Amino acid sequence: MPDLMEQITSLAKRRGIVFPSSEIYGGLRSSWDYGPLGVELKRNVKDAWWRAMVQLRDDVVGLDAAIIMSPKVWEASGHLEVFTDPLVECRNCHQRFRADDLQGEPKTCPNCGNHTFTDARNFNLMFRTHMGPVEDGAEDVYFRPETAQGMFVDFATVQQTSRRKVPFGIAQIGKAFRNEITPGNFIFRMREFEQMEMEFFVKPGTDEQWHDYWIQERLRWFTDLGVRPDNLRLREHDADELSHYSKRTVDIEYRFPFTDWGELEGIANRTDYDLKAHERHSGEDLTYFDPETEERYHPFVIEPAVGVDRAILTFLIDAYRVEEAPTAKGGTEKRTLLALHKDLAPIKAAVLPLSRNERLVPAAREVFDLLKPHWMCDYDDAGSIGRRYRRQDEVGTPFCVTVDFDTLDDRAVTIRDRDSMTQERIPVASLVEHLRERL
Ligand code: GAP
Repeated sequence: MPDLMEQITSLAKRRGIVFPSSEIYGGLRSSWDYGPLGVELKRNVKDAWWRAMVQLRDDVVGLDAAIIMSPKVWEASGHLEVFTDPLVECRNCHQRFRADDLQGEPKTCPNCGNHTFTDARNFNLMFRTHMGPVEDGAEDVYFRPETAQGMFVDFATVQQTSRRKVPFGIAQIGKAFRNEITPGNFIFRMREFEQMEMEFFVKPGTDEQWHDYWIQERLRWFTDLGVRPDNLRLREHDADELSHYSKRTVDIEYRFPFTDWGELEGIANRTDYDLKAHERHSGEDLTYFDPETEERYHPFVIEPAVGVDRAILTFLIDAYRVEEAPTAKGGTEKRTLLALHKDLAPIKAAVLPLSRNERLVPAAREVFDLLKPHWMCDYDDAGSIGRRYRRQDEVGTPFCVTVDFDTLDDRAVTIRDRDSMTQERIPVASLVEHLRERL
């Protein structure tokens, strides 16, 4: 259903959720900006992840490591050597592609239809820059291609300062950069994106059990946030596609309209690969001493890793509906709806004065001021009430609160529910309580 992607991309742009970066200069294909509603959605996705992965657990702590780390990190992690994709160039139009993306036999250039390509060469996906004021002789450094390495190099410091015992995890949300050969499909594959990763350190021998546990936890996170189970599946990596550090990886895949099934999140058993590699390269002891059994070992690591942007794309696609809705005149009309989980909705309630009448405005402002300290709210007084409901439906606002002339007498407002479109009259005095129960 490719036009579903067009509809979502167009809605995202039209409503200031996500749109191309640097657009006045023609954009930059792989970079996207989040507008006013997009930043709220993004914050809500990150908050939901942090709440589930850190706040509600007593065995996971947080970290915010630097994006530019010592270049030795990438030597030790193996990224300098093996974080590559096979790149080929079309001999006719000189466009470059990932060799494994080319379809057909003989392979065909998607741009010009030609069949001859250069030999594949390994292209490192890390962005490189220089540290220091003089380019010549300055140290080459890299923008991190994953947040994970922060958790490995800080493992001993975090474990000791937070006095955690294995099993425990370190979680981080932050930007990652990959010079992808073929970015695309809106915010599915970007060159600058955000990751939410957690490294869970466990005793060797318990790793397989913990791996299964985290696969189920992570799947549940998506369904708890409203993603339809039928659109999710687990896929085991074949031996030949495992990353260099992984013993077993299972992807949570989503039924994306452009690929059918595509990777949403990876949950890997990274073994003790990273801690041992950093110990070898840094000379620092990265073992863990278990005070109860008096054993010393390198913990194994289970890693659930998901892209913030890819999760947002999933929530948008899954929540997008076009329905026939009844009109006030007894007919029907199309309504576009983002049936986002209330925790993710950018705006929780919109206050709508029936008109811009000067008697109504102070009452509506009062209601807006009452709700603002509790939730992200919107105040919209432009256009007919029906149009304003549609505008809020389209961006997933769970509740609209209408202030009308009766409000001036009965001190009550009408609350409209986004999904059922039912309306209820509620006293202003109990409005916060009423919404709190539902949000
Ligand atoms: N630390 C492990 C790691 O980074 P990965 O499978 O390469 O594993 C984890 O990335 C997740 O990050 C992916 O499942 C995806 O959600 C997201 N991701 C990876 N590359 C991305 C890109 N170029 N654009 C957007 N999201 C990306």
